[in-house]
Amino acid sequence: MLNLSGVVAGYGGGNVLQGVDLHCADATITCIVGPNGAGKSTVLRVISGLLRPSSGEIVMDGHEVHRMGPDEVLRRGITQVPQSHALFPSMSVEENVLMGGYLIRRDRKLLAERLDQVRTRIPIVADRSHDNAGNLSGGQRRMVEIARCLMLDPKVMLLDEPSLGLDPRSLAGVADLVHELHEAGTTVLLVEQNVRLGLGLATHGVVMEGGRVRLTGTAAEVRDHPEIAALYLGGGTPSAPASAPAPTQPSVTTP
Ligand SMILES: Nc1ncnc2c1ncn2[C@@H]1O[C@H](COP(=O)(O)OP(=O)(O)OP(=O)(O)O)[C@@H](O)[C@H]1O
Ligand SMILES: [Mg+2]
Repeated sequence: MLNLSGVVAGYGGGNVLQGVDLHCADATITCIVGPNGAGKSTVLRVISGLLRPSSGEIVMDGHEVHRMGPDEVLRRGITQVPQSHALFPSMSVEENVLMGGYLIRRDRKLLAERLDQVRTRIPIVADRSHDNAGNLSGGQRRMVEIARCLMLDPKVMLLDEPSLGLDPRSLAGVADLVHELHEAGTTVLLVEQNVRLGLGLATHGVVMEGGRVRLTGTAAEVRDHPEIAALYLGGGTPSAPASAPAPTQPSVTTP
């Protein structure tokens, strides 16, 4: 279980997160939606230890994640697929994937086992192993980015905008993979601009605005909330919402 309470964080020029509370039960898929600049990626960055909160707590299974650096967060089983493309284009697909196993590099047997598992789960890793990552399509790169994270067999997978720039077929592939991870017991926290896709995939939804959580609930509750439907699923524009949804709604519960 991953819990954020009262998390405040920023980049030096003021706080971006203004006291974020978030609860992800084990083996759930939580999707954070909200306008540009709401702080969605920042939430993932504070969880993965790339940004330290100035106050508040992030706790996973009793461990204080907010006190950890990125390496320790990884060791605890939390991995992040970042929003911007993060592969090394002039390195091969396999080399990129193996970098995800950096923390287990001394255990050659485990490393080989994990690589085998990842190849089975994400066939592009086997099919294009010696190709440079720079030669892959956007969808294929996304798969390899996820494959790299799977090398550590994470408990929690943080995915920032997995649909960004993908064609419908690649989108379906990423969605299938998220479902498989979920079925295998991985907790997934994703940020998604494609609200319909994100909430369709998720078990739970979170709406962020202005560095705060404005609405939480099951994915269906969030999707069916009148203001969300109007702003994100109807004619409204997510980047310029007319008004904020009411701040209190059903809490996230285990499905
Ligand atoms: N590295 C950084 N340095 C300074 N400010 C930053 C940095 N990264 C993000 N910000 C600012 O923090 C705020 C929140 O950014 P964040 O990336 O978390 O938003 P987001 O909800 O993920 O938006 P988007 O939908 O555009 O990805 C924005 O105002 C952004 O300009
Ligand atoms: Mg973002």
